[in-house]
Amino acid sequence: MNSTIKEQPTIFIIFGGTGDLNSRKLAPALYNLFLEGWLPTQFAIIGTGRTPLSKEQFAEKILEGVNKFSRSGEAEKEKWDQFAQHLFYQPSDIKDATTYTEFGNRIADHEQEWNTKAHVIYYLAVAPDFFSIIAENINKAGLATDQEKTRIVIEKPFGHDLQSARDLNKLLAGIFDEHQIYRIDHYLGKETVQNIMAFRFANSIMEPIWNRNYIEHIQISVTEQLGVEERGDYYEGAGAMRDMLQNHLLQLLCFVAMEPPVSFEADEVRDRKVDVLKAMRRFTQEDVRASAVRGQYGAGWLEGKEVPGYREEKKVEPQSNTETFAAVKFFVDNWRWQGVPFYVRTGKRMHQSLSVITIQFRDVPHLVFPSEAMESWQQNRLIISIQPEMSIRLQVQAKRPGLDMVLNTVDMVFDYKGTYTSQAPEAYETLLLDTMLGDQTLFMRGDQVEAAWDLIMPILNTWQGNKSLHFPNYSADSWGPENAEALIARDGFHWFTLPVNGKK
Ligand code: BG6
Repeated sequence: MNSTIKEQPTIFIIFGGTGDLNSRKLAPALYNLFLEGWLPTQFAIIGTGRTPLSKEQFAEKILEGVNKFSRSGEAEKEKWDQFAQHLFYQPSDIKDATTYTEFGNRIADHEQEWNTKAHVIYYLAVAPDFFSIIAENINKAGLATDQEKTRIVIEKPFGHDLQSARDLNKLLAGIFDEHQIYRIDHYLGKETVQNIMAFRFANSIMEPIWNRNYIEHIQISVTEQLGVEERGDYYEGAGAMRDMLQNHLLQLLCFVAMEPPVSFEADEVRDRKVDVLKAMRRFTQEDVRASAVRGQYGAGWLEGKEVPGYREEKKVEPQSNTETFAAVKFFVDNWRWQGVPFYVRTGKRMHQSLSVITIQFRDVPHLVFPSEAMESWQQNRLIISIQPEMSIRLQVQAKRPGLDMVLNTVDMVFDYKGTYTSQAPEAYETLLLDTMLGDQTLFMRGDQVEAAWDLIMPILNTWQGNKSLHFPNYSADSWGPENAEALIARDGFHWFTLPVNGKK
């Protein structure tokens, strides 16, 4: 329970109220915040969308989402009835000015009932094409005048490229102050991602070794078994680079590579992350060929089920050039990281769903053991597993019990399941709460988004200008195209996955 929140009357206006994101993520997150006492005493959630629905029908739809997707399982009737009293619905045409007059009236009604000014959070859970029109109409209707109490939350993708991100930033900056704009990257809300900062900056033993002198290379893998399925429409214009790498993977990289902030203030943390993006080596077209690999999945079998190739998915061009896999070798050109490669990869329809960061340390300077002692010699590795397993493991060499001296690799593991009994909140719970609290640490600042686009534009441009002649080039249930193996093998490494039961 948080007293600041309790006394902060809040109205959420959710654009895309009948959409998938609301059912799967936002509504369950708001419901869980409610259950755990993290919503204000006075709050209203107003869903809006084109479909005409009554308040009751909307509540019914939201309940379906909660029952299906909430981490707390099916809603308990008594609690749900209390929550549902705060749900409202307004059918709308987001291009029509009267829609916004109606929002204004609703806000005024709640404020009158509560006898106080409310915080208003506009949540844009809609396709990116609508971001500008909604922001402009909010402004025209005079609904953005209170800079302290009005906030806008924008889902990714934030722009389609550097220019469109700049245009959107400019448009928003003409209406809102930066402190009112919450650009979501839901990876930042994940418990294990936030823990990277705790692990690095709350432990004195990490900092001395967290640099090029001790670290040989770093890998970030975010792989999914999921295919594109119903999202062909959106994905055709996005691909793995725009959908995952420009945002989620680069954000993970920033957490690993950033300098220690002097405080936990939102802008201080975000400044340090922008520093990383600015220090990252830019690509020429030649570099793109040597350092970036794209892939597209073909048909195959996954966990006993036959799955279509990307080009056979709904709303996907039969000759599509969109990549569903991307792997890139980056460098961060600063004192800490000079010469340390960061290999990142992401793909759909892969063998396993895993989000894992692996830090491989340099080898010992001198081997004192005879070769027969080193049965499974391996350099030290720190493996931060973000999902589905939530753990941090340090792999070290140890003597195997016995009369002979044989070394093998063992894992020192901190695993959330074994350490904590409480359930971790979902990323959206953390991020919605932070929006209410006005804490932007885990949100993308405008310059951060632009710096990330700036970095990957040469890759996108090169790929767009040169169609791949080899698509599809990996099958479902694989670890991606062979070129991705070659990308890392050229440097003498291979992609790591999470050890199963302590084994590689
Ligand atoms: C979204 C992407 O941002 O992240 C999806 O648009 C992807 O394509 C999803 O599946 C992955 O998120 P998570 O939390 O399931 O790892």
